[in-house]
Amino acid sequence: MLGKVGEFELTQYLTRAEEVILPSRMQNTSPAPVPEGPLYVGADLGTAYLVLVVLDKDLQPVAGEYQFAQVVKDGLVVDYIGAVDRMREMKERVEKRIGRTLTEAASSYPPGVPQAEVRATAHVVEAAGLDCVGLVDEPTAANNLLGVRDGAIVDVGGGTTGIALIEDGEVVYSADEATGGTHFSLVIAGARDISFEEAEELKKTDDMQKTLFPVVRPVMEKVGSIVSNHVNGKPIGGITLVGGAACFPGMAEVVQNYTGIQTKRPEKPLFVTPIGIAMHHARVAADKENDYGR
Ligand SMILES: Nc1ncnc2c1ncn2[C@@H]1O[C@H](COP(=O)(O)OP(=O)(O)OP(=O)(O)O)[C@@H](O)[C@H]1O
Ligand SMILES: [Mg+2]
Repeated sequence: MLGKVGEFELTQYLTRAEEVILPSRMQNTSPAPVPEGPLYVGADLGTAYLVLVVLDKDLQPVAGEYQFAQVVKDGLVVDYIGAVDRMREMKERVEKRIGRTLTEAASSYPPGVPQAEVRATAHVVEAAGLDCVGLVDEPTAANNLLGVRDGAIVDVGGGTTGIALIEDGEVVYSADEATGGTHFSLVIAGARDISFEEAEELKKTDDMQKTLFPVVRPVMEKVGSIVSNHVNGKPIGGITLVGGAACFPGMAEVVQNYTGIQTKRPEKPLFVTPIGIAMHHARVAADKENDYGR
């Protein structure tokens, strides 16, 4: 597994992932060669976005899809048909791009979601045409890539902030609370008197983020207070921020000032969790191989 790579390698890896998942960021438009060998797939059903990530046999990102879809709320699938349709379309687009059929995937769930709902997530993946071969909780997925030994991973997504405390490389405590990128967009929409959709776009425009910082700062502080409450005075080795909302510049500084705990954020935090889910697929496949070999 990749975990524990240096910061520079992590940035390069995540930049490559964004290039293959967000075609608008694609620097090189010449078609990539068809990947050989096993493919590892992560399907992330978030509250704001659905993500599909494909890694090759060396765990390098080869393709993916990122699509706005409000089909999940607090880890619960609220629009089953919508989720299946979107996921199937995403799978088919990726298959066309890479010239390979995807057959299996791993998926994930936020900490604390009831098992029945976790199964609903697996059903969506299966109904979209992928054998769901593994399910992993989101912070453990993120840590497949980050390799944190001691500290907190905080995944600030669309609807919620997930927090996991890690000791000796294992998640020892996790929680999920409502506050995420959606709340950033809501305060921007209110402050500027624009629609939620317009605010969502404005928020992601690099040039606007400096101007909007004072507007969204209280939401960042709310994330800091959520983290503080869960850390509850325990000495921890630092905070790593991931998730789409953590893309907003200045977030790590605000959380660090609020919590008094050293906070960092990978250069491109958007796809850390979905990539970690695909890595879980790779791990499940390796375990299966070992079982056969016995
Ligand atoms: N460049 C960016 N700058 C600021 N915010 C961004 C950027 N890119 C994405 N976001 C925000 O990140 C949020 C989505 O993040 P992510 O894809 O991690 O969420 P999710 O997995 O769908 O939600 P959750 O984890 O809460 O279920 C959205 O609110 C989106 O507007
Ligand atoms: Mg998420």
